Amino acid sequence: MTSDDSYRWWQDGIVYQVYARSFADADGDGVGDLAGIASRLDHPAWLGANAVWVTPFFPSPMVDGGYDVADYVGVDPAFGSLRDFDHLVGEAHARGLRVILDLVPNHTSDRHPWFVESRSSPDNPRRDWYIWRDAAADGGPPNNWISEFGGPAWTLDPGTGQFYYHAFASAQPDLNWRNPEVRHAIHDAMRFWLERGVDGFRVDVLWHLVKDEALRDNPANPDYVEGRDPPSRRLLPVYSADQPEVHEVVAEMRAVLDEYDERVLIGEIYLPVDRLVAYYGREGRGAHLPFNFHLILAPWDAREIEAVIDSYEGALPDDAWPNWVLGNHDLPRVASRIGDAQARVAAVLLLSLRGTPTLYYGEELGLRDVHVPDALVQDVRETNQPGRGLGRDPVRSPMPWDSTATGGFTTGVPWLPPGEGNLARSVAAQRDDPGSMLSLYRRLIALRHAERALAVGSYRPVPALGSILAYRRQHAERELLVCLNLAGVAGSLQLPDGFEAGRVLISAAGAAEGTEVRGHLELPGDEALVLEPLAPGGRAARER
Ligand code: GLC
Repeated sequence: MTSDDSYRWWQDGIVYQVYARSFADADGDGVGDLAGIASRLDHPAWLGANAVWVTPFFPSPMVDGGYDVADYVGVDPAFGSLRDFDHLVGEAHARGLRVILDLVPNHTSDRHPWFVESRSSPDNPRRDWYIWRDAAADGGPPNNWISEFGGPAWTLDPGTGQFYYHAFASAQPDLNWRNPEVRHAIHDAMRFWLERGVDGFRVDVLWHLVKDEALRDNPANPDYVEGRDPPSRRLLPVYSADQPEVHEVVAEMRAVLDEYDERVLIGEIYLPVDRLVAYYGREGRGAHLPFNFHLILAPWDAREIEAVIDSYEGALPDDAWPNWVLGNHDLPRVASRIGDAQARVAAVLLLSLRGTPTLYYGEELGLRDVHVPDALVQDVRETNQPGRGLGRDPVRSPMPWDSTATGGFTTGVPWLPPGEGNLARSVAAQRDDPGSMLSLYRRLIALRHAERALAVGSYRPVPALGSILAYRRQHAERELLVCLNLAGVAGSLQLPDGFEAGRVLISAAGAAEGTEVRGHLELPGDEALVLEPLAPGGRAARER
């Protein structure tokens, strides 16, 4: 299935992330499941998404919400069964939705049979599947590495007297990717799902897979500010992640995908742009889409965002396809970060930039982070380091399908509170309201699908000042202008060549479609517009 202009589905399509525990609960236990997701696929299809990425549903003790996998080729009973999975894939494909799975190859659960064997004895054949080391001379951990969830990244195993390494929780021992048997075992798990019709993987913490062979100490981070930064940022991860050998590992994963048609490899990678783009690999041997989180990481300021876009566009290797993300299950929701009005501007930005957009479920509703009372806290990142505001539960609240007490998410007690404010933003409440966030998302997506200039066109920045960000997108003869005001105060833009007169195709703040603008554009606060040029005489210069 290749779209016109020979772009792949993951290039001109839109990815919709479903947090499996929070989308829809079919069996009433308060936790989302595969049957629930299958029953709600009309929503992403109606919205215009082309793929759903489903977060982990594999057998897991749920120490890290399923990112602690105890079996790579099964379904946790809390989420259903393999039959439910096959049903989900069938329902998705019937709606033209691709299915992307989360692959978590950096670590397993400490309950995974591989680790149970590995820890059983220093002579076990699986000992080297994980990273085991003797204590340092002082009896402490082998080096100074810190866990992403706080505390040392090494835990002593009393049975064998050695430490094992875990970049995340102690219940998530890191696999040893220098061991070819580990690579083959994960490749086989990938094939298991690919054979079942999965269209690709989002690979968890891809840049973490390979560690320095000598496990050297990480240097101190000179910019670390106690209290402001999470404890894990005290050191620079010079030796614990992003090692040169990781690219061979990625190339091997890519080769597994390439045994099948039209599958996609997406990598979760938090790195500066120059390091990030290396994950595209050489000659098509890397990830198709190394996730680009820089719209989330950069301050919400027109010049900063412009600099991010320009540096990213400038750094992309030939043939590399860009991508953009505004939120995910690990970071504050965009509406909570920048407010409701700017979240609408952000929607226009995400869906008019060059590159595959990924939406996090509920972003299209303008959902906000929910307050989670201490007694209901689930996230290990919070329980390991309480009171620092590092918990991710607030961004994982149940999808509000309607505005009843449980949002139509479950007939039971939802595992996290849906949040009153979010219930008021339910799908049912917004669907028929032309001014709603949901309607804006749907219209933006429809416009992106209708306009090849937006979906696959070139990107050209337009000089702008203050809070205004502007760029052109062009495909064949058709060129569109995007102007966004990243603040609540009015700004202005001298319309560039070819757009001396333009017409509004879509507006974030409510300017009527078809409104004509000329010469100098006054952009109210919180407004974002996509404009088409008007030919002299006032007719829109369309390519057809
Ligand atoms: C990724 C996941 C996150 C998880 C971590 C460890 O960052 O997105 O949710 O906690 O990896 O697997």
